[in-house]
Amino acid sequence: MTDQTTGADPAAVDARAFRHVVGHLASGVTVITTVDGDERYGMTASSVTSLSADPPLMLACLNNAVPTADAVTRSGRYAVNVLGRDHGQLAHQFAVPSDDKFAGVPTATGTTGVPLVEDAIAHLECEVVERVVGGTHTIFVGRVVRAVAQEGEPLTYFRGGFGRFEFARDDVVYRRARQQVLDRLHAPGDVIEVERLAEDLEVDQAAAFYALTRLAGDGLVRRDPGRGHVVTPFDTRTSDDAFDARLAIEVGVLEQVLGRLSEEDVAVVRRRFEDMAALLVDDRFVDFDAYLDANHRFHETLVGLARNPVLTAMFGSLATRQVMTRSFGSTTVTSQRFVDAQRRLTEAVEAADRDAALDAARRYTELAKERVREILAEVGGEL
Ligand SMILES: Cc1cc2nc3c(=O)[nH]c(=O)nc-3n(C[C@H](O)[C@H](O)[C@H](O)COP(=O)(O)O)c2cc1C
Repeated sequence: MTDQTTGADPAAVDARAFRHVVGHLASGVTVITTVDGDERYGMTASSVTSLSADPPLMLACLNNAVPTADAVTRSGRYAVNVLGRDHGQLAHQFAVPSDDKFAGVPTATGTTGVPLVEDAIAHLECEVVERVVGGTHTIFVGRVVRAVAQEGEPLTYFRGGFGRFEFARDDVVYRRARQQVLDRLHAPGDVIEVERLAEDLEVDQAAAFYALTRLAGDGLVRRDPGRGHVVTPFDTRTSDDAFDARLAIEVGVLEQVLGRLSEEDVAVVRRRFEDMAALLVDDRFVDFDAYLDANHRFHETLVGLARNPVLTAMFGSLATRQVMTRSFGSTTVTSQRFVDAQRRLTEAVEAADRDAALDAARRYTELAKERVREILAEVGGEL
């Protein structure tokens, strides 16, 4: 966690620090439109929210320096056009000053005469009832005179970047679909059809499609342009390659950094180890997903000790997570030996003992590869 203040004095929060911290407050993205005379205005705005339901009031916080804010003051009306998940380009277009903000944008005219962005997932037409100046911006309080929504997911804005909204229930659907693959309800090479999965799990097709997209990210299915989502075969070669690649990176990093680490670096490795060890108790995963995350963070921390972004990126591209999901994730039974090997590695980092560290890293890799072989043998050689 980074403390953006430089002291106890609240005035010490400067504009840059404030922008960084407040960027953590995720929001939707809208285009505020208005018309003044013959001139249409529009600007991207995320500082927009509902104020009251009875009477229905919205507020939009607009920078006093931008032409749209002036135009809203003059016209006394505005529309909030809520952007959909694929409208990143549109948000960009309305966020840069231009003579023709609306170029190529299909529009309609609202009941109040303001232009409406046709593809927006919701429109709220407002008449300004109050203006409040706050710093560089004005809060325009608008009485909602018309509100219309259509199907669609919103574009979101978080820490300076656009993203997508994800329902928590979609995550549950993804986990159930993943369990199906791990439980080998589908044979390697089988196609999982969106409609079929949606029916099986009794969910809508959008949730089923979302689950398949995430399964593709996990490497559990691959997208075949001709066939759809195909269950990927998994064998010892896949897992050996991933674990060996990770070992090669870690051995390189340990050789480079041992003996030169700060106390803080070493303490972080210990902390990551303890977090992970707490999730593998008595030869069982307490919570496999949480273990997977903690295990990933432990290894990422080791690689990060080199302070080399190229190595960290290489580590990020390894398929170890997918391999672990695919193999260890298919059973809750595991072995305390993994934790023992990682503990020896942690202790060796603390003692700056290069040979012991390399030995523990190799031992852990061998154990992981062996365990995948055992799991594959139990299911006939292929998952
Ligand atoms: C995601 C995003 C959100 C924004 N939110 C606001 C906002 O809430 N209020 C504001 O005044 N400007 C906001 N801006 C900046 C304006 O869109 C930008 O200043 C724009 O050029 C103003 O248009 P205009 O100069 O044609 O009036 C935002 C920009 C982006 C990219």
